[in-house]
Amino acid sequence: DPVQARLTVDAEPAGPRIEPGVYGHFVEHAGRGVYEGLWVGPESSIPNTRGWRNDVVGALRQVGVPVMRWPGGCFADDYDWRDGIGEPAKRPVRPNRWWGGVEDNRVGTHEFMDLAEQIGSEVYIAANMGSMPPRAMSHWLEYMTEGGKTTLAEERRRNGRDKPWKVKYVGVGNESWGCGGNMRGEYQADLHNQYATFLRDVVRVASGDGQGNDPLIDVLMERSGPHLDALTLHYYTMPGDWSKKGDATGFDAQQWAKTLKSALGIEGRIAAVSRVMDKRDDKKRVALYVDEWGTWYDTPAGASALWQQNSLRDAMVAALSFNVFHRHTARVKMANIAQMVNVLQALVLTEGPRMVLTPTYHAFDLYQPFKGATPLKATLQAPPFRTGDVELPSVEASVARAADGSTLLALVNLDPQRPARVATNLKGTAQGRVLTAAAIDAHNTVARPQAVVPAPYSARAGAQGLALDLPPKSIVVVSVPAA
Ligand code: AHR
Repeated sequence: DPVQARLTVDAEPAGPRIEPGVYGHFVEHAGRGVYEGLWVGPESSIPNTRGWRNDVVGALRQVGVPVMRWPGGCFADDYDWRDGIGEPAKRPVRPNRWWGGVEDNRVGTHEFMDLAEQIGSEVYIAANMGSMPPRAMSHWLEYMTEGGKTTLAEERRRNGRDKPWKVKYVGVGNESWGCGGNMRGEYQADLHNQYATFLRDVVRVASGDGQGNDPLIDVLMERSGPHLDALTLHYYTMPGDWSKKGDATGFDAQQWAKTLKSALGIEGRIAAVSRVMDKRDDKKRVALYVDEWGTWYDTPAGASALWQQNSLRDAMVAALSFNVFHRHTARVKMANIAQMVNVLQALVLTEGPRMVLTPTYHAFDLYQPFKGATPLKATLQAPPFRTGDVELPSVEASVARAADGSTLLALVNLDPQRPARVATNLKGTAQGRVLTAAAIDAHNTVARPQAVVPAPYSARAGAQGLALDLPPKSIVVVSVPAA
């Protein structure tokens, strides 16, 4: 028997629009994320445009990348931008202190900016506060964005780029409580203010919480409020804990349930951080950027750093996270999945010349119509279900109004066993796509790249209104035209 759920949609907006930036990305110099995954070099036999692989760039253009954060992560606070400019053969080779191996700096500012232009993405530079002086940060920004004839702008021109680039966001350090310098909140706030003083015409982003530390948010809001435009939250989903995270495939129903529970936990963190921010910023001037989120499993032996497979379960985590972001649009203006290619919850996995689109990629694709849409108030009644000691809602939903007046529905059936029927107060025909698979850990490989792909979905209203049937463990995204 299907689980019976009821969704009552209100015409009232539930908050400001869903910023396209919540469908943003994070790309760090780690494992095979940049090198191999995105960059193969101009001399490669893998088809590329100035070094960036055409297959991956094409897939990313299709899914739409509103914003990319680069070059870290932890890597960012050990990065000297000067290492990555000028004649490639002369660039220094450094140890990659966080993720192993060496960094030959073949990909630096000019290359990354070219990638952003190829993909059509805004740029979010994660700048170094942990190990470089404020002058290095402001000089990097000047090098990229100065249109006049300053010495740094002329150096950029000599290095092949006449026109200044646009840099919209600058992250002032990353995880300053940890890999970004192991700082006390008070010390970080003072440093942030100092560094931010020398940044002009950018959104100034302070490194926020990643450890459930609300007092840190309070300290930053109190001491750095006027010097920041956004602060960040990092939230990783895992079935286990940091000592034993769990496997990306070959898991059971209990691990499935624990993972989805962990994913839904992001809502509590966003709500808690928002409450702390509200105390000192009730007008909500300062935005919250969830600039690292996604699943983190144990890296299999022999795999590159932070590599993991990506299954239907990861697509579910993505869908649930999007639904949460849609509920918090008053604060959450950007979110960046960790990470784009071959690292953690990737959208794309590569093996030599081959590329595989993951279930997470398809979740991003299904949700594309939500970019810029207005979330609507809706009430969902759905019974919970239990797996061992984990209780989850059987169905999770998000509803929004698109610019053309149509109603967008995203429905997630979390139950791996039972289908669900969602009765609604809507009329008309719903059309869209469904993502599901036979196994809870179904995933795409080079040998079977189409194991988990979306299928067309439609439902027509009967006398009782529109009802949508959800297969077990599925994501359905549809649009219902305005009457
Ligand atoms: O995404 C991997 C790492 O997780 C990032 O480098 C760091 O910011 C976080 O701890």
